[in-house]
Amino acid sequence: MTTDQNIALDLSSEAFLREPHASYRLGRQHCPVYAVPNQDLVMVFGYDEVLEALMKPKIFSSKNEESVLGASIHNPECQAIYKTGWPQVPTLLTNDPPSHTRFKKLVSQAFTRDRVAGMQGHMEAMADALIDNFIEDGECDFIDQFANPLPCQVIAEQLGFHKSDIAKVKVWSDAFIDLIGKDMTSAEQVERAKSVVAFQHYMKACLDERRTHPREDVLTDLVNARVDDETPLNEAELLNVAQALLVAANTTTSHMLSGGLLALIDHPVQLAKVRENLDLIPNMVEELLRLQTPTQGMWRRASEDTELGGVPIKKGTMLMLVFTSANRDKKHFPHPDDFDVERDFSTAHVAFSRGVHTCIGMMLARQELVCAFRQIIKRMDNIRLSSSRPRPQYEPSLIFRGLESLHVEFTAR
Ligand code: HEM
Repeated sequence: MTTDQNIALDLSSEAFLREPHASYRLGRQHCPVYAVPNQDLVMVFGYDEVLEALMKPKIFSSKNEESVLGASIHNPECQAIYKTGWPQVPTLLTNDPPSHTRFKKLVSQAFTRDRVAGMQGHMEAMADALIDNFIEDGECDFIDQFANPLPCQVIAEQLGFHKSDIAKVKVWSDAFIDLIGKDMTSAEQVERAKSVVAFQHYMKACLDERRTHPREDVLTDLVNARVDDETPLNEAELLNVAQALLVAANTTTSHMLSGGLLALIDHPVQLAKVRENLDLIPNMVEELLRLQTPTQGMWRRASEDTELGGVPIKKGTMLMLVFTSANRDKKHFPHPDDFDVERDFSTAHVAFSRGVHTCIGMMLARQELVCAFRQIIKRMDNIRLSSSRPRPQYEPSLIFRGLESLHVEFTAR
């Protein structure tokens, strides 16, 4: 294998953060595992190498001592606010086996195939109702009017939010995302800290309600989750799991909807194939997940001196496993940059990761995407980019891949 570590990749430039595919291609070709010069950071671009790291959670750990609340934990005003809520405990994403295994077993009970299958009709109705709001206009702000609200509504309902409170979902979910990754002023941190605690108190009331009035939803399943001799989830753990679900479900699915629609607009021949045969939609969704991969990459930390793809890695080094790049590795996906709704083995992608941290919501996300695209394709014809706006751009980000805006015009069918 070639491991030419001398290639020049400017991973912090805005150009790279918005359009990273050319750099990822270069990385895959010359150094599937790239030790970033002068940093304790390794970028993993190759499919086989990403998969190998995912399958060795003991060596490539997800444990993260840094709080999911970011720098706000050092802000005295935020600390005082957090004291009025519940502590953050590692449950899923930033945890390792064996502790992680307990949470995974318990939380997975809330995401069974039957539960998700039972939501299909309702998801289609939700998608339809959103389309009803703009179908007569012949144009829409697709992100504001569809891609953001649909995942919010789906997860809000499953977490027990009252209909009138759905607007809070996006505010709270964005607050968590900002705390993890955004540079903020003290006042902004305080505002987000208030959202964290408001969310906890809101969820606590929902949890109490489920204990006395169980329903057919994810929250009830979480409250009642029991596995073998594992201890059931306590209050702080339940709140953290609910928080993880809120954050993990929204941005990802929303980016898939908008990025997916743009791909369909850019590839009219593929869209025409799907219009002719709606049974292709599930495969189309897998192909879109491979090409769009909204969770571009996730962090791991080497828990011992090791090697990956022939590159030595010191204990303590951070690794970024780049799913977006792995999903375009030509060793596994011929003509990897092509969008082909009939591609074989399209589910071999790693958009939902693999191994112990495989996405808990993947069945839900798949179902939601299939329902959404089915209704869009059925009801909207001649979909095109709005003629009065510049071409949409991707947000500059190392973690998420999502469009900043997407205004479209169409003809109602
Ligand atoms: C298109 C939509 C989605 C994508 C692309 C996606 C992607 C991912 C990825 C890549 C991971 C693994 C991270 C790692 O290996 O460290 C993950 C984990 C997770 N996802 Fe998703 N996700 C999506 C939707 C959802 C939804 C709808 C939910 C919940 C309702 C959800 C809940 C979770 C949770 C709880 C984890 C943590 C699992 C663990 O650490 O064991 N995700 N997701």
